[in-house]
This record gives sequence, structure tokens and C-alpha cells, in this order.
Amino acid sequence: ASNQMWGGRFAAGPDAIMEAINASIGFDRRMAAQDIAGSRAHAEMLGATGILEASDVEAIREGLLTVLSEIDAGTFEFSTALEDIHMNVEARLKEIIGEPAGRLHTGRSRNDQVATDFKLWVRDQLDAAEGGLLMLIRALLDQAEAGAGWVMPGFTHLQTAQPVTWGHHMMAYVEMFGRDLSRMRDARARMNTSPLGAAALAGTSFPIDRHMTAEALGFDVPAANSLDAVSDRDFALEFLGAASICAMHLSRFAEELVIWSSAQFRFVTLSDRFSTGSSIMPQKKNPDAAELIRAKVGRIFGANTALMMVMKGLPLTYSKDMQEDKEQVFDAADNLMLALAAMSGMVADMTANRDQLAAAAGSGFSTATDLADWLVRVLGLPFRDAHHITGSLVALAESRGCDLPDLTLADMTSAHPGITSDVFAVLGVENSVNSRTSYGGTAPDQVRAQVARWKEIVG
Ligand code: ARG
Repeated sequence: ASNQMWGGRFAAGPDAIMEAINASIGFDRRMAAQDIAGSRAHAEMLGATGILEASDVEAIREGLLTVLSEIDAGTFEFSTALEDIHMNVEARLKEIIGEPAGRLHTGRSRNDQVATDFKLWVRDQLDAAEGGLLMLIRALLDQAEAGAGWVMPGFTHLQTAQPVTWGHHMMAYVEMFGRDLSRMRDARARMNTSPLGAAALAGTSFPIDRHMTAEALGFDVPAANSLDAVSDRDFALEFLGAASICAMHLSRFAEELVIWSSAQFRFVTLSDRFSTGSSIMPQKKNPDAAELIRAKVGRIFGANTALMMVMKGLPLTYSKDMQEDKEQVFDAADNLMLALAAMSGMVADMTANRDQLAAAAGSGFSTATDLADWLVRVLGLPFRDAHHITGSLVALAESRGCDLPDLTLADMTSAHPGITSDVFAVLGVENSVNSRTSYGGTAPDQVRAQVARWKEIVG
């Protein structure tokens, strides 16, 4: 049997393989609510502009509500032969209301319909990502506030660099996730134009009102070029791009949690709720959630790359290639939301091991820069000379197997005769972090100021 939607010029129906490669209903059924919302807006507009009789609009309105309730109830029978969500809904509408269902597609095409549905779906994801990011940022702010003054080692090259505070480290992630938040918001603002009414590609000769449907669906304006409206998938790519960067941030943080929760570091203890055990090694408590979050960036960035590759060579306007956009975005969105939720839970639950952090902060000659700065500030040495003298004292301490504060004053003066016992005051880690009061520095007061600023922002 030929297709009920376009069977007019077909003598035979599709091969089973054709049906299999062509159908998108297996995944685009996730856009059912968006599809029905779009159809309702379109139908109301067709009524308001006098293109359809009020009685037809009434029938369509009621019928679409029935279809939606069947889908919500799980009683709707999706058909692969009907290819996609758009035709599944319309075919069922026809079964329910008969002839008026055939008038719904006036002045519309599946090309503007799918672009509209998908935009509505992605827009919801941008909102969901915003919610997930806010939750995570709040959890980080709680950690930062509690530990604004807790010292820990700061690293470059994963080698001890200078002491920093726990709160400062948490706030670094707040900055990253804050940028992710603003990327999601930017993308949402830019994407919020309505493709509906662009029809197949050229617009329509019916006197439709695209401003009306745009407004009904919460879009700011109708998309201004019908060719662009049906062939644009930038909105999906921007979501995937923002999601990729966000997943990269999540992955870096997850990597730190994996390191920090190891027996060798013991910087943090993850809660039982966000850890797993081993079936053979009874002592094990594994950071599986962090590891999986670390891995998610692979598939999310993969989705981004895949859709870029799908789109890059397509001539205007719609090509069936574009049906390959949804699974990538669905998978990326699902995994981003899951990763955000898991990270929020882990951060809210985790315990910073304050003593261990402090002990680590004082090792590895972490205050060597403070010593060099003292030589500059108090003795007036050029920084390069101060650096060299400090380096020789680090070498001396290393040869003795001790830390800088353990050296004697005689050791110090052997490196430079002007050094006095005052120098020992700057070798403590507390002093070190307290002294870094430059804007954005690690001093506890700076950290508290940033926590307060972010609390204003996220409410
Ligand atoms: N299932 C299609 C998609 O996801 C809907 C649009 C079909 N349009 C067309 N001209 N065949 O892209």
C-alpha cells in the first residue's frame, strides 16, 4: 500500500529496508509534546486568520488533546510505517476526528514543523541545564563558604606550587560553571526565533500569521528567512558546544575528585551514597560516579562532532541527513543532565579532610615563593636574586629531608647574611594564604567576597 501522506504519485509502498532507514519514530517520539504544542498553535492561527473554519479548529483542538492524553497514558500506538512523530500524530488525529485532521497541514510542512519541535525540545534542555548548573553552583558555594580559610596545596603541573584555600579551589569551579550557565543563556536567547510558517522552504501563499504562532510558542519573533528557518540547526550545535565545554569542566573536576579521594591524597572523603564497592577487595570504596562523569565528555563532544559533520556539507535547505540531529542531542542532553545531578550530589555530600589538606599544604616547599617575596620586600633584593637564594635554601632543606620552616636562622644567613628571624613568619601556610589579598587571590577574605558575590547572582 502506498503512503497515506503522499501516496498520490506512488504505485508501491516502501521496501522494509527503506522503512527501517527512513523512520525516526523510534527516537523522535520524545518530541511528541512539542509536536502537539506546535500543531495547536498552528491550528489556532489558521482559525484566527480565517484560513480554517472555527468548527475544524475546534475539532483539531479537541483531537490533539486526546492524542496527547493517549501518549501521556502510554496507550498511543507508534507506527514505524508512519515514519516520524509528525505523521504518527496526524494519522491518529485523523482516526479520531476524521476529515478536519487533513486541514491541519495547511500552510505548513514537516520541514518547519520538525525545526519548530526540535527547537522547543532543545530550548527545554537549555532551561534544564541552567537548573542543573545552578544546583551545582549552590553546592560548590556551600563548600567554599565552609572552607574559605582551609589551606590546601595549589598545583601547577600537579606539583605543589603555592598554598591556596579550599574555598578558593571550589570557587574556581563556580567561575567555570558560571560561564557554562551564561553560555546556555546566550544560546537560548539566540535560538528563540520561530521556524513555524516557513513551510517547506519558501513560505506559503496562505495568509498565515507567523507572529501569532511565534508568540503562542514562547518565541521572541518568527525566523526572518524561510530558507534558513528550515535548514538551520545552529541551535542544536550551540547546545552541544555549550554542553561539551560544560562536560569538559565536569570532567576536570571529576578527575580531581578521583585523585583527591585516593589513599595517597585523602583530600576528600566521598559519601557512601556516591561511591561503589568491589566484589573482591573488601576495603574498596571507588569513585565510580566521578569516573563516569569524567567519561561523559567523550560522548557529548562526540555528539557535537557528529552533528557538525552531518551539517557541514548540506546544501540549502532541508535534507534528510538532518534527521540524524536528534539522537545526538538527546543522548548528549540526557548525559549532561545526569552528570550535573551526580556532580551536585557528590559535591554536596563530600567531606574535605581539613587536617590532611593542611598537612599537604605545608609540604613540598609550598611557601618558597613567600620566602623569595620576603627577600625582595624586606631586603630590597631583585626578585631574580631572591629566587636563586631561596632555591639554594630549598636544596638545603631537601638534602636534610626537612621543610623550609625547619631550617635554622644560621642556615638562612648562610644563604644571605641579611636574613633575620622575622623570615619565619612568612613560611607558614596560613600566613601565605592570608597575604594573597590581591583581587581574586586566595586570601580567605577574597574568597568570602566572591562567595557573597555569587550568592547575589544565583539567589
Ligand atoms: N523525520 C524528519 C526529520 O526528523 C521530519 C522532516 C521530514 N521532512 C521531509 N522533507 N522529509 O527530519
